[in-house]
Amino acid sequence: MIRPRRLRKNKLIRELVRDIHLNKENLIQPIFVKEGLKEKTEIKSFNGIYHHSIDSILYEVEELLEKGITKLLLFGLPSSKDDQVLNAISEDSIVNKTIREIKNRFKDDVYLISDVCLCAYTTHGHCGVLENGRINNDKSLKLLKEISLSNALSGVDMIAPSDMMDKRASVIRKALDKKGFVDTSIMSYSVKYNSSFYGPFRGAQDSHPKNGDRASYQMDYRYSKDAIIETLLDIKEGSDIVMVKPAMAYLDVISKIKEKINLPLAAYQVSGEYLMLKNAVKNNIMNKNVYMESLTGIKRAGADIIITYFAKELFSE
Ligand code: PBG
Repeated sequence: MIRPRRLRKNKLIRELVRDIHLNKENLIQPIFVKEGLKEKTEIKSFNGIYHHSIDSILYEVEELLEKGITKLLLFGLPSSKDDQVLNAISEDSIVNKTIREIKNRFKDDVYLISDVCLCAYTTHGHCGVLENGRINNDKSLKLLKEISLSNALSGVDMIAPSDMMDKRASVIRKALDKKGFVDTSIMSYSVKYNSSFYGPFRGAQDSHPKNGDRASYQMDYRYSKDAIIETLLDIKEGSDIVMVKPAMAYLDVISKIKEKINLPLAAYQVSGEYLMLKNAVKNNIMNKNVYMESLTGIKRAGADIIITYFAKELFSE
């Protein structure tokens, strides 16, 4: 008789047959640095996540490394907005300064990734150049390229373009190679949906678009065919890693892409997904195991790498 419960009889047999393992080596922790801050400040309505000053981020990185969280995704918030995004491109932008500080201090003990986008830097809060109410794709590419080059020059290990402009991976790859940054890698936000789950992040990064929404560049979750198209394009354009975002509501997309590609696949458990679970636990609606369960589900769906705000917390014990 087949009795599946035999393999669930006790802890040891359950352990023996398990085949989905979450390793901290495969996790990426997002971190936020804000220009003009003197010390770290908890971000309102982003339970447990902080804006750092350049000083406090160094302590944070040290703590993360001690816990074995060694891959970090850096987001910057400038003190003033500028549609030409010199606040992102200049050598002294908050992100470029932070990259230099972190890499000078921790060298290759940390793998540092910069999120490259315009939305936290522009007055209008869109991810591209806004012209007469529309996003100009190719003008946006120039700025994304300049930000990427400046981050590479500061010593970042990997560029993660999150803007969703067409052709950005190839433009960034070519520019990096031309300047000799042949080892600076690219993780593209390949399949990025126009999602309400980014709400807490946009609050934190002051990046809600002032007018309109991101529907003309981020993907429509009611349309399923462009997930593969976007992924294959990013691979062809030279991305080293591709990504699906958000994660929990898009596990089918992760699985589908996993079957089609032979490159590392990342999934981003985004701010709204994190916060739903945090708030449920805070209000005693669920217990903390739900964090690990959610991440294991993302892994089981096919993600090799997970970007998650839980990375530090889960490996604290
Ligand atoms: C920037 C960017 C966003 C996120 C990562 N990079 C927000 C957006 O596209 O509006 C979302 C991350 C999160 O919600 O945790 N374009």
